Parts: sequence; C-alpha cells; structure tokens
Amino acid sequence: MTEFPPLKNDLILRAARGEKVERPPMWIMRQAGRYLPEYHEVKGGRDFFETCRDAEIASEITIQPIDHFDGLIDAAIIFSDILVIPQAMGMDVQMIDKVGPRFTDPLRVPEDLEKLSKDVNVLKELDWAFKSITLTRKKLEGRVPLLGFCGAPWTLMVYMIEGGGSKMFRFAKEWLFKYPKQSHELLQRITDVAMEFLAQQVVAGAQMLQVFESWGGELGPDDFKEFSLPYLRQISSKLPPRLKELGVKEDIPMTVFAKGSWYALEDLCESGYQCVSLDWSYDPAAAVELSNGRVTLQGNLDPGVMYGSEETITKKVEAMIKGFGGGKEHYIINFGHGTHPFMDPEKIRHFLKECHRIGAQ
Ligand code: CP3
Repeated sequence: MTEFPPLKNDLILRAARGEKVERPPMWIMRQAGRYLPEYHEVKGGRDFFETCRDAEIASEITIQPIDHFDGLIDAAIIFSDILVIPQAMGMDVQMIDKVGPRFTDPLRVPEDLEKLSKDVNVLKELDWAFKSITLTRKKLEGRVPLLGFCGAPWTLMVYMIEGGGSKMFRFAKEWLFKYPKQSHELLQRITDVAMEFLAQQVVAGAQMLQVFESWGGELGPDDFKEFSLPYLRQISSKLPPRLKELGVKEDIPMTVFAKGSWYALEDLCESGYQCVSLDWSYDPAAAVELSNGRVTLQGNLDPGVMYGSEETITKKVEAMIKGFGGGKEHYIINFGHGTHPFMDPEKIRHFLKECHRIGAQ
C-alpha cells in the first residue's frame, strides 16, 4: 500500500465516527466544477471524461476548491463521475456540452443485458481512477481527507436504460414493472462492480466514501425497499470484509445520499452507512430526532439559496445549523444537492465563512 503524507485535518472523519467536534466539518457536492473560473481554464476544450481519466488534470481540478476556499473546506472529492461504472461494464457514454450524459446504446430490453461485460475486471477497467486517487491524495499533502464515490445501483440502472437524464423514466419504469427479475439481475451486476470499485478506491487512497442514489426519489417507498435498499445494504455490508481482505486496517466511513427518498430515512439509519446525506426536503430537527444519534447526518441547504443575498444566506445557515442541534456532533455541513454552474463563488465563500463562524459558536 502507498505511503501518504500525514493528515492535518481529520474533522470530517471524526464527525463521521460520531465523535464530538469543535465545529461541524463542511464540503459541497459538486464543489469542483463549472462555477469556478479556474475549472474552465484547466479543462479548456477537453472532453469531460478525458479530464476525468487524466490523473494530473483530475487531481488539479479536485484540489481547486480546497485552494479557492482555503481553510474553509474539510474534504476533497475526487473529480470523476458516477457513469464510469456503466463505462467499465462496456457501455459507451459521452458527456454532451449543455445537454449532459448520452449513452450511444442504452439497455432497452432484457436481451440487451448480453451487451454488458461479464466478470468486469475493475482494477483494469478503472485503473485510471485509482491512479488519479493516489496522485490526488499525495498532492493534497494531508490538508483534508480525500473522498471516493460511486453511483448507487438503481441510479446507474436508470442511466443505463434511459440513456441519459429523464423526466418520466418511461424505460427504467418499464423494466421495473415488466421485467422485475431482469431488473434485479442488472442491479446485482452493478452492485458487484460498485462494491469492488469502492474497495479499490480505498486501496488507492480514498479515506471516506459516498454512494449517490440521485434518483432514489423516483421510487415509491415499497419499490425503494425492493429495488434500492437491498443493494445499498449489500455495498455497505460487503465492503468492510473486502477491505480487510485487501489489507486495509482503518475503518472507512461511508455516506449514503438517496435524493428525494425522505420516506426511507428510518431504513437508511439502519443500512450500515455511518452517514446519511439529506436533500433540502427534510426538516433538520425532525431528521435529528428520527435518526437519534444512530448516524451522522449531512446536508442539507437548498443550493438555490446561493442565488439569494448574503443576509439570506446567513439566515438560512443559522436555521440549518440550529436545526441540526448546533452541529458539534453527528453532523456534516453540505448542500442538499450539487452546486449549479451559474453560482457566484463569492456567495459560496460567504456560505462557508458563515458556516465556519456559526458552527464554531
Ligand atoms: O466536485 C464533485 O462533486 C466531484 C465530481 C463529481 C461530478 N459528478 C463531476 C461532474 C461527482 C461526485 C459527480 C456525481 C454525479 N454525476 C452524480 C451524482 C450527484 C448528483 O448530481 O446527483 C450524477 C447524477 C452524475 C451524472 C452527471 N454527470 C450528469 C447528469 C451530468 C451533467 C449534468 C450537468 O450538471 O450538466 C454530469 C456532468 C458532470 N459531472 C460535470 C461535472 C463537473 C459537468 C461537466 C462539464 O460539462 O464540465
């Protein structure tokens, strides 16, 4: 295993383990990206996935928000995408400017499962991702922990079937309700790759992990229990023994973010993840009461608040931190979803500074 520089700021790891902290740690979903001018400078006209696969560039972009908001962000998240798992399974995915992801040949009928690679060699197919994590962790010089991540099985299934984003989820829903058996087969195959991908990210240097179930809210409570939760659970239960097998000695905290699945909070508190990330549809105090110290909660400001004035941002931050009980235990500050490309970095700086000030009180 590679030797890395000692960690100087372990606030997020302590909060994730449930320890009392001096102030709540903070990071922001999509903190690296298009709202930062320096992102465009480095990315230039390059293809999105090409930048992900270039360890030098990806590591630079990963560290940009840490430099930009020096001392205000307590974790870096590796610059990559959830759609690299479908790519590793043999699917072609392009990122189209101003449109989003496009699969050239989505899975439309169960026979299309034949098109996916069997026995995906994760180390080989995603070897660029591991190199990028190792290089980034070195370049971070222990300033903050490095987070790894992956897409959750249901969310990836949606993309693989729809071929991109969707409003009606016509094709993915057709699979669930017409072909439940094959849906489970697909979910299982994704789960196997996702679990190994996360484990190898840790071997490469990731210090905490997040699983993104971005389309969780498209499933009703019963379907979430059938098509999402069991696979999220498999990932959290198989990962620790796999890490042991791979020679990892530390406990690696894991976060689950099931956007829109407010009905599932009770189950998510018992799903084997140390942290549960909330979108802004949750009332913080109600979530704290329900979770009752079983997990560390993460979230949950509406990123849209960044379009408001500094006074508005301050007020919203005060209410959020108060709602999460002051934030010195079982809490990680974040947005309820990612930053938008149009946001003003100075507003985000104000948000972070206010979180720092209020969180330390
Ligand atoms: O800073 C970070 O958060 C790390 C990097 C990161 C990206 N995507 C970079 C990215 C992470 C963690 C993701 C996760 C991701 N990707 C999710 C889960 C989180 C969520 O938003 O729900 C999802 C659903 C995707 C799939 C994806 N990638 C979409 C739908 C899009 C296009 C939509 C858009 O915002 O335009 C992407 C592109 C993408 N991923 C960009 C970035 C910085 C924009 C690429 C560009 O045009 O430069």
